[in-house]
Amino acid sequence: MSLIILVGAAGLVWVGTAGGQGAVQAEVLDEAKRLYLANGCYACHGLEGRGNVGPDLTRTTKSDEEIVARIANGRAGTAMAPFRDKISAEDIRKIVVYLRSLTRP
Ligand code: HEC
Repeated sequence: MSLIILVGAAGLVWVGTAGGQGAVQAEVLDEAKRLYLANGCYACHGLEGRGNVGPDLTRTTKSDEEIVARIANGRAGTAMAPFRDKISAEDIRKIVVYLRSLTRP
């Protein structure tokens, strides 16, 4: 099945196929959770994204674009390394969707 994720100023827009939007979203979330674990994000941001070495990602004030940029480029002088050579741009988008699903007030 194919999936296109378009990210604009308004946030995330889903263009799904078979199964409708909910099924597409669930599939992306599963995949993104796997990426979050496989890339070791949990080591610094916690299994549920609530942070320990790194900040709590469930309460980030950053925009989607800022989160994408931070994952891709990291932040010099901190433990947050750049992941652009390890995670594809598409997979970084999926991780952002996953992090948004963890958001709490
Ligand atoms: C070795 C520890 C470490 C690992 C592994 C790590 N991070 Fe980070 N991360 C940090 C630290 C420390 C910061 C704070 C730096 C900053 O943004 O000021 C940070 C910042 C961030 C931010 C910015 C949050 C905000 O609201 O400012 C995001 C998003 C993020 N990390 C996502 C990820 C993702 C996704 C992964 C896995 C691909 C990951 N991080 C892996 C330590 C880590």
